[in-house]
Amino acid sequence: MRSPQNTSCSMKAETTSSFKKKYFYFQLFLFLLLQLLFTLSLLSYWYLLPQSMQNYCPPKQVAPPVTPVFIILLWTWPFNDLYSLQGLRCLGPWVREANCQITLNRTWYERAHAVIIHHREVSLMPSKQLPPEPRPTGQRWVWLSLESPSHLDNLAAMDGLFNLTMTYRTDSDIFTPYGWLRPRQEQENGSLTQPPFPKTKLVAWVVSNWNEDSTRVKYFRRLQPYLPVDVYGRNHLPLPVKNQQRVLSTYKFYLAFENSQHQDYITEKLWQNALKSWAVPVVYGPPRHNYERFLPPDAFIHVSDFKSPWELATYLMKLDADEKHYLSYFQWRKHLEVVTRPGWFQEFCKACRILLEPPTYRTLPALSKWFS
Ligand SMILES: *[C@@H]1O[C@H](CO)[C@@H](O)[C@H](O)[C@H]1NC(C)=O
Ligand SMILES: *[C@@H]1O[C@H](CO)[C@@H](O)[C@H](O)[C@H]1NC(C)=O
Ligand SMILES: *[C@@H]1O[C@H](CO)[C@@H](O)[C@H](O)[C@H]1NC(C)=O
Repeated sequence: MRSPQNTSCSMKAETTSSFKKKYFYFQLFLFLLLQLLFTLSLLSYWYLLPQSMQNYCPPKQVAPPVTPVFIILLWTWPFNDLYSLQGLRCLGPWVREANCQITLNRTWYERAHAVIIHHREVSLMPSKQLPPEPRPTGQRWVWLSLESPSHLDNLAAMDGLFNLTMTYRTDSDIFTPYGWLRPRQEQENGSLTQPPFPKTKLVAWVVSNWNEDSTRVKYFRRLQPYLPVDVYGRNHLPLPVKNQQRVLSTYKFYLAFENSQHQDYITEKLWQNALKSWAVPVVYGPPRHNYERFLPPDAFIHVSDFKSPWELATYLMKLDADEKHYLSYFQWRKHLEVVTRPGWFQEFCKACRILLEPPTYRTLPALSKWFS
């Protein structure tokens, strides 16, 4: 028979053992709970940290990056127009890689990475006007001209001196056109294919250098009897620069006659005087196929489209009377817009961008043969 004591004792013993077991689980639970809390707090701390600190790495001992400075010396400012380069900086994503410094200060010659030489100011006495030789090692010389070979002297003296060309020719190293077309960027109000100004006059022509012996004036003399043309410029109708665009905008046609005929030589006469004024250009310059490298075929009228000046005159009169046909010369403007030369400084920045591309060794042995 068991005594109650024993019973209670055994009960007690039993109870003690179960209590111990429970206590163990409780401890385990507490431990796990604390672990969980600890982990949670760590995690929350981690997640609440700013992103930048999560990626924090101890600093390494490295020198700050040095921005290389690329120095371009402008041997002269084109046509000696005094112009301050102070405070002008090239902009664009490529500037981050190198700091382009464009200077007119010749004391920088020895340090310059490239020298841009505008033909006009070195053409009279090339041996005296060109930079001194021998040139600093690695320095590249850029030959610049936006004028056509017909209006440049001493071209042969430039042979074998230059590394790059900067001209209106598309095959120049630094292509510097007078204008171009780009896909239309912004939606404008009003019709894009109709001139935004009333066209009250017929044909305009602006000539600064009137030369009776030039082929363009000779052509004009044959056209004149059949077509009324308002001629502006020296010894003709006055046209102040500030009024130019407004006045030319009142004309339906503009005679964009170049002073000489050379590959790609298509100047502001087309881009600025005609196209910016919404006057249909009547062009006289390189052949039609050359113009079509820059413009849609239905954006201009080429004098060579006609057998004679009389035929051209007849065609323009016909267009004048046929609004629908006349407006067909603006269809391309739905998709394209005209850009004119941004100015010398932006063009020197473009030169810098191209000069920064990995240099390939290049010399121009016969510049005068190429630029003809
Ligand atoms: C040309 O550069 C030199 C050297 O940096 C400087 O001493 C001189 O004043 C500069 N000349 C002009 C006209 O800025
Ligand atoms: C286009 O028209 C809208 C509404 O008539 C006018 O608010 C806006 O200024 C116009 N934009 C231009 C570029 O003329
Ligand atoms: C640039 O052209 C000159 C003359 O031909 C040549 O002597 C020089 O090595 C060329 N420099 C470079 C960097 O191509």
